[in-house]
Amino acid sequence: MSLYGRIFAALYERSLAATEEAGLRARRAALLARARGTVVELGAGTGLNLVHYGPAVQRLVLTEPEEPMARRLEARAEGLGVRAEIVRAPAEHLPLADASADTVVATLVLCTVDDPATALSEALRILRPGGRLLVLEHVRSPDPALARFQDLVRPVWQRVGHGCRCNRDTAALLAAAPLRLEREERFRVPKVATFVRPGYEAVAVGEGG
Ligand SMILES: C[S@@+](CC[C@H](N)C(=O)[O-])C[C@H]1O[C@@H](n2cnc3c(N)ncnc32)[C@H](O)[C@@H]1O
Repeated sequence: MSLYGRIFAALYERSLAATEEAGLRARRAALLARARGTVVELGAGTGLNLVHYGPAVQRLVLTEPEEPMARRLEARAEGLGVRAEIVRAPAEHLPLADASADTVVATLVLCTVDDPATALSEALRILRPGGRLLVLEHVRSPDPALARFQDLVRPVWQRVGHGCRCNRDTAALLAAAPLRLEREERFRVPKVATFVRPGYEAVAVGEGG
């Protein structure tokens, strides 16, 4: 377990507090109101989404590969009295059956996984036909000048953000995937540096839906 991993987990919520307050929390709430049935969250971190899952959620599986995050996640779920299964696994290798989820949730995580294409294909593998993939990410800018700047700062930011790639083109990844985009929206992530400001939200339906 890396020392920086422990520090990152400890500081994560504090570093995001102003952004959550300025609108990200409301976006999480609106998006996650669509979660229902068996819900699998990828890289759930400290559990900032837990308060947003409503009564339509019957089973909640929270995946998280980083031990310092997973421990905070367990404590948060317990503190809130949320019944959840915490699975220590990366999004690229989900120990879950095909078509076993009604909803898969990815918030601020596809920027960090090492292999986003594999993570997305795993998400679609476990999603039942007609199930929903709910995505809320910061992404590569559609503005070429800002995208170039993101490319420039990515190596340093990746260290600071414990694996976060600020230039990751998650919107393009979804556009090329075998899914139907039901809804997508670009937005500005509030109260963050310019290079992590381009936000992207999507609701996608697994193939066969
Ligand atoms: C920026 S945090 C986001 C946490 C949470 N999803 C949220 O919305 O606040 C990124 C999370 O992705 C996790 N992570 C890193 N590599 C991962 C992987 N390969 N698969 C799944 N999660 C991963 C990190 O441990 C961390 O909890």
